[in-house]
Amino acid sequence: MTASSLTIIYSSFSGHTEFVIDTIEAFLKKTLPALVIRRIRGEQAQREDLEKAEALLLGSATWNTGGAEGQLNPYMLELLADKAKDIKLPGKPMAFVSLGDDRYYYTARCTEAFLRFLRESGGKQMLPPLIVVNEPYGQEERITRWAEKLAAGMK
Ligand SMILES: Cc1cc2nc3c(=O)[nH]c(=O)nc-3n(C[C@H](O)[C@H](O)[C@H](O)COP(=O)(O)O)c2cc1C
Repeated sequence: MTASSLTIIYSSFSGHTEFVIDTIEAFLKKTLPALVIRRIRGEQAQREDLEKAEALLLGSATWNTGGAEGQLNPYMLELLADKAKDIKLPGKPMAFVSLGDDRYYYTARCTEAFLRFLRESGGKQMLPPLIVVNEPYGQEERITRWAEKLAAGMK
């Protein structure tokens, strides 16, 4: 696919997801200088941001949202399950970044919620999700390799 713009929506409490998004964005800016990148925090994002996006990159860590572990960050959950409830985005190119920690039984299981959103909205996945387990610091090489594939898919 060829996309001239990418909307990145992410939520991050302790900065881990933000660091991964920063690393991906820096790589995309260097590799695809003509790509227009719109970056929005999950708490500020609205249904229209999903609708208007030419291509979407969503990022979240796994949290115990609502009391049970293995869930999306509360702001990302609010966006996908509430503000954008029942949204249909047929064929919209999408990519997902999910984080987690192996001290938790449901390690990085927010990935499943993202894939459910993909299926229910009718989006088209550009590449398999980037799953980052434990602190992202020191994992830049792996993150950049994934960003390389994303960039290749956007060209
Ligand atoms: C209260 C709490 C609940 C968490 N629940 C999970 C979980 O169920 N599964 C998991 O893999 N990680 C879990 N984590 C770990 C976070 O997903 C991990 O620290 C992540 O890197 C945080 O990213 P962020 O700073 O972008 O929010 C939890 C952390 C906290 C503090």
